[in-house]
Amino acid sequence: MANKVKTIGVLTSGGDAPGMNAAIRSVVRTALAAGLNVKGIKRGYAGLLDEDIVDMDTKSVADILQRGGTILYTARCLEFKEPEVQKRGAEILRKHGIDGLVVIGGDGSFQGASKLAALGINTVGLPGTIDLDIACTEYTIGFDTAVNTAMEAIDKVRDTSTSHERCSIIEVMGRQAGYIALWCGIANGAEDILMVEKYDHDEQRIINNILDKKKLGKKHHIIINAEGVGDSYGMAERIEKATGIETRATIIGHIQRGGSPTCKDRVYASAMGAKAVDLLCEGATNRVVGYRDGEFIDYDIQEALQMTKGIDEYMYEISKSYLSATEEKLILGYRQQYEKYIQHIEIEYQALVNQINEEVTMFKTLLALVFDGPENQKLEASVAVAISAGVQEEKLLKNRAERDAFFIAE
Ligand code: ADP
Ligand code: F6P
Repeated sequence: MANKVKTIGVLTSGGDAPGMNAAIRSVVRTALAAGLNVKGIKRGYAGLLDEDIVDMDTKSVADILQRGGTILYTARCLEFKEPEVQKRGAEILRKHGIDGLVVIGGDGSFQGASKLAALGINTVGLPGTIDLDIACTEYTIGFDTAVNTAMEAIDKVRDTSTSHERCSIIEVMGRQAGYIALWCGIANGAEDILMVEKYDHDEQRIINNILDKKKLGKKHHIIINAEGVGDSYGMAERIEKATGIETRATIIGHIQRGGSPTCKDRVYASAMGAKAVDLLCEGATNRVVGYRDGEFIDYDIQEALQMTKGIDEYMYEISKSYLSATEEKLILGYRQQYEKYIQHIEIEYQALVNQINEEVTMFKTLLALVFDGPENQKLEASVAVAISAGVQEEKLLKNRAERDAFFIAE
């Protein structure tokens, strides 16, 4: 089948994201392999209007797969929202012989791509944003790297927070979306996650939670605050005043946008780049590539822009460290563990302690579980470990009879 396009242009627009270079490389190399010409447009729509357009060959994308940022630079160009300016953009593309365009960016960038499609330029969008806030796709280029960077930074804050027995409010990026906050909240075992989509602004609840956990001997308190909620410094001051616990705010910031992309971001961005070129070769236009249910798929840009997505309820529930709608699932998990334990009642004391710690960490719940052993000493030690791991005292099952009653009654 003859290719429907002869020259593909590629640009990155909006906030940069790790993995954009992998996508550019894949677009260039796939297009060259299909016998097409490729041109790189610098600084998004701003560079298009300035005709900052360069020929790209296989060497232009050598040694970039592992690099963060975007070799094509990126920009926000507000004037591109104007119809007259979009027409000028389409004319410039035609002047340079570009009849297919790959736009790597977020929803705003796709709007621009859609306008160019209406003006006769075949366009395909690739979702490039650390925010994961594009409704038509479960994956966006850069999210995986950003969330891993944020997770590592939060681990570091946690070390110092524990040493000083402080409360830490850590603000992560995401604009109005809470995905980075949610994933870090789970991955870092935060006590609270504040996201625009869910936060009820009940600061007293946060304060009570901190005080309750302090009573249980908790040495630090981590709150992940999404950028869209903001006011981390103000919140830190208020929490310190209300709890008497030293509280610090850390805004992780642009570190989250940089760095070498993870394996996932390199591989998925490469797959998406290749798919964009395939679509253009088939004559498709006004499409956006997404990832859903294990497959790379594509949608009409306007349809994709109408889609909405929210915070996954199940993920949100498991992120909570107190008993919630997941209670039943957790109890089920404990019951299965319990059945295993009664078969191994002679378990070594240290192994017992380790297992309790693991259990509490794994389920992140205050539901108590005490594995009593044949001697009272073991029971006491188990209770102490459970309390220091954050189990609420009133929920402890303090002896075998209570424990059996709990599991059998459930
Ligand atoms: P993102 O693409 O990450 O959502 P922005 O919302 O900042 O980031 O959009 C990036 C760029 O896309 C804008 O600076 C502008 O050049 C272009 N753009 C945004 N909205 C539109 C629109 N409605 N029409 C045309 N171009 C747009
Ligand atoms: O969209 C990516 C993002 O990093 C958001 O998380 C954040 O709100 C915004 O861009 C920051 O933009 P800038 O780099 O212009 O400060």
